[in-house]
Amino acid sequence: MLSEFNLKNKVAIVTGGCRGLGKAMAMGLAKHGCNIVISDIIEKESEKTAKEIKKLGVKAIAVKTDVSSKDSVDNLIKETIKRFKKIDILINNAGIYNPTPLETMKKQEWDKIMNINLNGYLLCVQSVFPYMKKQKKGAIINVASVAGLSAFANSAAYNCSKAAINMLTKTIATDWAKYGIRCNSICPGVIVTPMTEGLLRDKGFQMMIKTGTPLQRPGKAEELAGLAVYLASDASSYVNGAIIPIDGGWTSHL
Ligand SMILES: NC(=O)c1ccc[n+]([C@@H]2O[C@H](COP(=O)([O-])OP(=O)(O)OC[C@H]3O[C@@H](n4cnc5c(N)ncnc54)[C@H](O)[C@@H]3O)[C@@H](O)[C@H]2O)c1
Repeated sequence: MLSEFNLKNKVAIVTGGCRGLGKAMAMGLAKHGCNIVISDIIEKESEKTAKEIKKLGVKAIAVKTDVSSKDSVDNLIKETIKRFKKIDILINNAGIYNPTPLETMKKQEWDKIMNINLNGYLLCVQSVFPYMKKQKKGAIINVASVAGLSAFANSAAYNCSKAAINMLTKTIATDWAKYGIRCNSICPGVIVTPMTEGLLRDKGFQMMIKTGTPLQRPGKAEELAGLAVYLASDASSYVNGAIIPIDGGWTSHL
C-alpha cells in the first residue's frame, strides 16, 4: 500500500453507511486501516455492517441516526467522540430518491428530500467542524450525484438537492481550507444498490444505461471505494473543492 493512502488509526463517520454506496466506501476505508462509525437510520443492518467491518481488523461502531434531526446528529457526534475521541473523515452519503413530476409534487415531498439530502449534510458538516478545526485537519466527502450536474427527468427535488450539495462542497473548500479541512464531492452515475435495483429491473431503463453510458453498464458500489479512500487520505492533499463524476463516462458526452 502506498503510504499516502494509509488511514491507520483515522476515524471516519459514514452516514447512510449500512448498505449500498455507504457500506462499500466504509469497507474501502476500513481495508486501509480506518476505524468506522456506521451512521444510518436502519439500526439492525448498521450493527450487521459494523460487525462485518470489524472482521477487517479495525474498530467499528453503529450509531442509529436520522441525519435530518439535529438531536440525532448531536448524539452521533457524542457517541463517536465517546468511543474514538476524534473525527478525521466525514462521508456525507445518506440520501433518498423519490421521483415525482414537478407539476404535481407536493411541498412535503420537496421538504422531505431537502431535509435528508441537503440539510442532513449541513447538520453533519457543522457538527464535525469543531473537531476537525481543533486538530487542524479533516477530510469531508459529500456524495452528490450526476443529477446535480444535469437534470434527471421527474426528479426536481433530488436534482436540486444534489446541485446544492456540490455548492456546499465548494463553499466548505473555500471557507474551511484555512483550518486544514478539505471537502470534495463524488457524483455517482447509476450504481447498483438498493436505491436503484427497482429502476434497474426495468428493460427501458437498462437500455438507457447501456446506450447512454460509454462503459455500457451501471457501476458497482465497490467501484466507488477507491475514490473515497483517495479523497479521505493524504494522497489527495491538494484536492479541494473538486466535483468528481464516477459514472462510466455518462456526463462526458452530455
Ligand atoms: N445508487 C446510485 O445510482 C446513486 C447515484 C447517484 C447518487 N447516489 C447517492 O448515493 C448515496 C447513497 O445511495 P445508495 O444508492 O447507496 O442508496 P441506499 O438506499 O442503498 O442507501 C442510502 C442509505 O441512506 C440511509 N438513510 C436514508 N435516510 C436517512 C436518514 N434520514 N438518516 C440516516 N440515514 C438515512 C438509508 O437507510 C440507506 O442505508 C445517496 O446520497 C444517493 O443519492 C446514488
